[in-house]
Amino acid sequence: MRPASIARRRWLGAGAAALVLAVRAQPGPSASREAAAQRIGVIGSGRIGSTVGGLWVKAGHPVLFSSRHPEALKPLVEELGTLARAGTVAEAIAFSDVLFLATPYGALPQLSRDHADAWRGKIVLDATNAYEHRDGPITEEARRDGIGITTARYLRGARVVRAFNFMGVAQFASEHHRRGGLVGGPIAGDDKAALDVAAQLVRDTGFEPVVVGPLAGADRFAPGGPLFRQVGTAEAFRRKMGAR
Ligand SMILES: NC(=O)c1ccc[n+]([C@@H]2O[C@H](COP(=O)([O-])OP(=O)(O)OC[C@H]3O[C@@H](n4cnc5c(N)ncnc54)[C@H](OP(=O)(O)O)[C@@H]3O)[C@@H](O)[C@H]2O)c1
Repeated sequence: MRPASIARRRWLGAGAAALVLAVRAQPGPSASREAAAQRIGVIGSGRIGSTVGGLWVKAGHPVLFSSRHPEALKPLVEELGTLARAGTVAEAIAFSDVLFLATPYGALPQLSRDHADAWRGKIVLDATNAYEHRDGPITEEARRDGIGITTARYLRGARVVRAFNFMGVAQFASEHHRRGGLVGGPIAGDDKAALDVAAQLVRDTGFEPVVVGPLAGADRFAPGGPLFRQVGTAEAFRRKMGAR
């Protein structure tokens, strides 16, 4: 077994369970349970995929967590209950109204090749970030052309919205439904209907959506951008947007 797989299995066995418990311990708005349930497919059910996906399960959405080794996700879906299930990436794409992309950025060329036309018309919430040391040459492509634009080029025909990439996984686990002022969650996209769906799904995780602009504006809250890791209320986030 590759070291990365071992590390991930350890994570799913221990770390993710701890985050799921943290997620369960926090209050959630009952109103979100009344909102229309979306069938969500998670691609990349590691730290960020399992944490954000877990928040959607808690909000009442059916979520298919996918992996290249779906059997390894058994502890995660058992912990989350009946709205959670595990499957392959192809099953997640087929199952979903909305996909949540949470793989290393370097996985995009392979995802593009393996599922060529399956992305057409799908709303994809893209939480990936690109780092040279991990993701290789595609990082330069994302830097040159914009990270959201690059994702959309690989996932041909997808309605890409950048979301859930701007802060660390531990903060998503601890800061959702924050009392005294929800934390702002920046999103960016070109498709108005997809942005509306993304905004509701941000609300359902216990954050307040802040539309930063079109997909080309997503670099503002990606690594290296001025709004990356700006954790505060939506109002404070909007002030920072205006100031830059
Ligand atoms: N961790 C954070 O704090 C954080 C915060 C914001 C954004 N992000 C971004 O979110 C993404 C995921 O980060 P993470 O920390 O959650 O990583 P992670 O824990 O390593 O999880 C990534 C998952 O992606 C899957 N994967 C890898 N290569 C794949 C491929 N070729 N095709 C399909 N699935 C593949 C792996 O699942 P299988 O091996 O089971 O298939 C793995 O569990 C990254 O782009 C990261 O930069 C992370």
